[in-house]
Amino acid sequence: MLQKLEEVKKEFDSLLGSVKSMPEMAQFKADFLGKKGKLNALMGGMRELSVEDKKSFGARANLVKQDMLSAIDRQSQSLEMEVINAKLAANWQDISLTDKVKEKGQQAAGLHPLTKVTRELEDIFLSMGFDILDGPHIEDEYHNFEALNIPDSHPARDMQDTFWFKDKKHLLRTHTSNIQIRGMKQKKPPFKFVGPGKVFRCETLDASHEAAFHQLEGMMVGKDISVPHMIHFLRTLLSEIFKKEINVRLRPGFFPFVEPGFELDYECLLCGGKGCSVCKQVGWVEGLGCGMVHPKVLAGGGIDPNEWNGFAFGLGIDRLTMMRYHIDDVRHLHSGNLQFSEQFKAY
Ligand code: PHE
Repeated sequence: MLQKLEEVKKEFDSLLGSVKSMPEMAQFKADFLGKKGKLNALMGGMRELSVEDKKSFGARANLVKQDMLSAIDRQSQSLEMEVINAKLAANWQDISLTDKVKEKGQQAAGLHPLTKVTRELEDIFLSMGFDILDGPHIEDEYHNFEALNIPDSHPARDMQDTFWFKDKKHLLRTHTSNIQIRGMKQKKPPFKFVGPGKVFRCETLDASHEAAFHQLEGMMVGKDISVPHMIHFLRTLLSEIFKKEINVRLRPGFFPFVEPGFELDYECLLCGGKGCSVCKQVGWVEGLGCGMVHPKVLAGGGIDPNEWNGFAFGLGIDRLTMMRYHIDDVRHLHSGNLQFSEQFKAY
């Protein structure tokens, strides 16, 4: 019996090296260590041994089993590493390379479409004299809600929308409007700035909703700024982005930090207004929230509302990117799939 055990072990050792994939490994493990495997078959014969022999056979069989298990583990790990390394080698990119200096066998990196659109937006705003500001993803209640005139009872604060931290004071910012508050405290009017960035909401995911998405906040404060200024400005902006005149419509919208507040929709460029999954069959997409900055918000930011006024807006970058590049599902944008983002290299 002992001899047979050693033979099984030898067979195991000699075959292990030829196992080349994880499915093969599973089969190999079953052949030797499974219920109907070779080791169990030997154990079945133990009944016929004397008490003494049973003990020594049992002890050796256990050792052999442990050896086999750890050898399988080691081999499985290196098989997994091989798979990972092969994937890395196939998708290897030098992100410092551009298309122009592509060398043989190397893939040039491309910018993600969201990055492209964000940079384009920044260029447009820089050319109009705006500054570009940044704000934190992890925000406190004050900058995300309170200073924006969003009271405790406002539904936007609800657990369903907001990712709160355990301390109940910090959260993942639900919009880029926190940048308004931080910007006002940094600057003396007149000023104009934008702040692009990631925002987070606890949403059910579908073709047009993601839990993490991107906005661009804008704020312009000066003297005698009016709603028509704002509309003209936003229209110009959208036609700059899409490089053509596009239809927009303005609806009253409620945001506690602006008064009056509006929602600006633009014609769905994916279906040309006919209706599709992205515009929920209505032919229009919600493009941005906007309005005249609420006097309370200005005052909270240290700006005298009797002397200054202005407008603010929050533009959804993901949907804009989808319209721009005709992407029909927002989830592609966050898939991390290189084959997806590579399609945009040439644009
Ligand atoms: N913060 C608002 C939102 O997330 C958008 C907005 C920004 C509205 C600025 C008005 C002014 O939907």
